[in-house]
Amino acid sequence: MGDTATLLLSSPSSSVLVFILIILIVPQVLLCEGDNDVYYTECHRSFKCGTVPNITYPLWGGGRPQFCGLLAFRVDCYEDEFPIFEYQEQKYRVLKIDQHLRTMTITRIDLMEGTCLHEFRNTSIMDSTLFHMTPVLKSLNIFYGCSDTMKNISNEFMCFYDVVRKSAFFIDDIFLDRGLCSFITNCVTSKVPVLWSALDDVGRRNISLQEALNQGFDVQYSDHPECPTCASSDGFCGSNTSSSSSSFTCYCRDKPHPRTCNDSGAKNSSA
Ligand SMILES: *[C@@H]1O[C@H](CO)[C@@H](O)[C@H](O)[C@H]1NC(C)=O
Ligand SMILES: *[C@@H]1O[C@H](CO)[C@@H](O)[C@H](O)[C@H]1NC(C)=O
Ligand SMILES: *[C@@H]1O[C@H](CO)[C@@H](O)[C@H](O)[C@H]1NC(C)=O
Ligand SMILES: *[C@@H]1O[C@H](CO)[C@@H](O)[C@H](O)[C@H]1NC(C)=O
Ligand SMILES: *[C@@H]1O[C@H](CO)[C@@H](O)[C@H](O)[C@H]1NC(C)=O
Ligand SMILES: *[C@@H]1O[C@H](CO)[C@@H](O)[C@H](O)[C@H]1NC(C)=O
Repeated sequence: MGDTATLLLSSPSSSVLVFILIILIVPQVLLCEGDNDVYYTECHRSFKCGTVPNITYPLWGGGRPQFCGLLAFRVDCYEDEFPIFEYQEQKYRVLKIDQHLRTMTITRIDLMEGTCLHEFRNTSIMDSTLFHMTPVLKSLNIFYGCSDTMKNISNEFMCFYDVVRKSAFFIDDIFLDRGLCSFITNCVTSKVPVLWSALDDVGRRNISLQEALNQGFDVQYSDHPECPTCASSDGFCGSNTSSSSSSFTCYCRDKPHPRTCNDSGAKNSSA
């Protein structure tokens, strides 16, 4: 079978064969999808990236157009390995998505490559209104470039900046309130969320800070309040990218509806 195909394709008439195949196949594809509205068909598709399957609303990117998601939730598939998304110029790797709980487990890309940062930044997503930190997290403060080394504490590590060895250390928010100020006056802080359980393991010296950061942290993302109604009417949630307010749209088999597919006969009333 494979040999026949190879022979046919390498013969002079191969282009004719391909042409015939296209004529035979294409109308069927169009017929299958022709039943449903094009927005519905597009947003029906989830996408998979590396180990993260079934990426759907409010996320978009990959094969999913922007109108299938919410603007801020664009996800790219990095070298077919893992999804990344960007929030305020900071890139995050997505480790896991739980669509039911609407949570994502993410890590900061800059901290995956080592705990010695070269551009110091707090984790801006912690202050976002689109995302909520989950209660399993602690806010870790990593201090860089301290002039004095601490008195041999376990939380200290060394970083090289232009071949100069500088002390860095980390401490969680609770201890920060207990007067470390004399040590930290010359340092730069970066606030990073870590899993409470991972930080406990670091405390027991079972894992390193890097390993704790690599476990990521959970954020809950907000989707649109109308979405459950739309989804239960067999529609796919999305947004109208051509309306100025990017308003919520429910993509249904027949056409896009404002809130739910189940509004027939009540087009203009809001019953
Ligand atoms: C994908 O996620 C949607 C919810 O966003 C869910 O309804 C659907 O069952 C999931 N599909 C698979 C194959 O897990
Ligand atoms: C991070 O936030 C803390 C206080 O919230 C601030 O003191 C510090 O300067 C910030 N660090 C950076 C790098 O912006
Ligand atoms: C630092 O502490 C370790 C034990 O935690 C000890 O073995 C080591 O000698 C100490 N180093 C200095 C310079 O005090
Ligand atoms: C240390 O971590 C490993 C897995 O990372 C776990 O199996 C082990 O029980 C842990 N040990 C302690 C003392 O917590
Ligand atoms: C998007 O909004 C514009 C103007 O508000 C409207 O004309 C258009 O039909 C809408 N498109 C969809 C797909 O709902
Ligand atoms: C449509 O909505 C009405 C009320 O909002 C409900 O009674 C009816 O069962 C729904 N039909 C379907 C097919 O979901």
